[in-house]
Amino acid sequence: MKLNQNYRNLEESYLFSTVARKVSAYAAAHPQAEILRLGIGDVTLPLAPAVIEAMERAVAEMGKKETFRGYGPEQGYAFLRESIQGYYARRGVALSVDEIFISDGAKSDLGNILDLFDADNTVLVPDPVYPVYVDTNVMAGRRIVFANATAENGFLPMPDGRVKADLIYICSPNNPTGAAYSRGQLAAWVAYAQKVGAVILYDAAYECFVQEEGLARSIYEVEGAKECAVEFCSFSKTAGFTGTRCGYTVVPHALAGGALHKMWLRRQTTKFNGVPYIVQRGAAAVFTPEGERQIAENLAVYRRNAKRLSDCLDGLGIWYTGGKNSPYVWLRCPGFDDSWKFFDHLLEEANVVGTPGCGFGKNGQGYFRLTAFGGEDTTAQAVERLQALLKK
Ligand code: MLT
Repeated sequence: MKLNQNYRNLEESYLFSTVARKVSAYAAAHPQAEILRLGIGDVTLPLAPAVIEAMERAVAEMGKKETFRGYGPEQGYAFLRESIQGYYARRGVALSVDEIFISDGAKSDLGNILDLFDADNTVLVPDPVYPVYVDTNVMAGRRIVFANATAENGFLPMPDGRVKADLIYICSPNNPTGAAYSRGQLAAWVAYAQKVGAVILYDAAYECFVQEEGLARSIYEVEGAKECAVEFCSFSKTAGFTGTRCGYTVVPHALAGGALHKMWLRRQTTKFNGVPYIVQRGAAAVFTPEGERQIAENLAVYRRNAKRLSDCLDGLGIWYTGGKNSPYVWLRCPGFDDSWKFFDHLLEEANVVGTPGCGFGKNGQGYFRLTAFGGEDTTAQAVERLQALLKK
């Protein structure tokens, strides 16, 4: 038996597990502390009533002989795939239903898609970045090169013609920085991918937070993207499914001469048995007029939280990105060069938890991420504590 030695090249633990462990240790040592958690981007509002009603109906169906369902299609039920097709069509993107694959979330698919690519590929990943892109490639022993995202380029790196990459990760609006690409900027990435023969793995998990005109919500808004990009999306942040689990991945027929679509179908039918019927019914309710209205109300709460956090940083004169088209606010640690030291300072002096920027890559050192997914009261209290602690 030989172990996968690539695991030795990983950090000791996953970023959010490290944060959770540190916070638990602090809470155990300070049982009176009222800790406000704005670390992991986990939603706090309950599922929309339309989603719950749809899932309740599905539960009842599962309890009756006539409507009971066993194994479903591995790629997802047609009713949900058609709803997603309609969602894209309303934004001017035409997809065929069989290009949409339902899964239990973007994180799983972002890792699973790597089954389709040889280990001997060079992967281009922005730095800082959602750690899953790096870790899943380290596990497979792939060569990783980084595109520097810095304050100078607004945390939106653009292609560098001197770099040869085979797989390119783009997340927009970005986790962790909250920065979002315009359609024109994405068009430059698509042109680059086509030129070097690369595939873009586009993470659109936060697309529903885009508000400004001109910013892309899907890479397929860019001409030619279907020939070079896979898109991953999720109901987690849009509709509060972090615990319910449902997402989708778009693998166009036009990609790599149809090879990737065929391979992904083969992979999923072999290694995946589909998302529960009940969950898919809940997810489909997200696209009903009632569901859309209710979800918009929840998103408005998170947007208000993002605004509160941004206003607080404006008032304190602290530099940041994000917050406007994103649920994340990415700030320069005031008075600290080290993100983990700032993390400890906030935890100990204000009992506020965030995520240290260096956990997302070397360019994140000295930065810090706050999430707008906390409760409204939690966020308002956190703002008061930040104001008290960080005012000059
Ligand atoms: C985050 O905090 O970055 C996200 O919640 C992680 C995820 O979506 O897996």
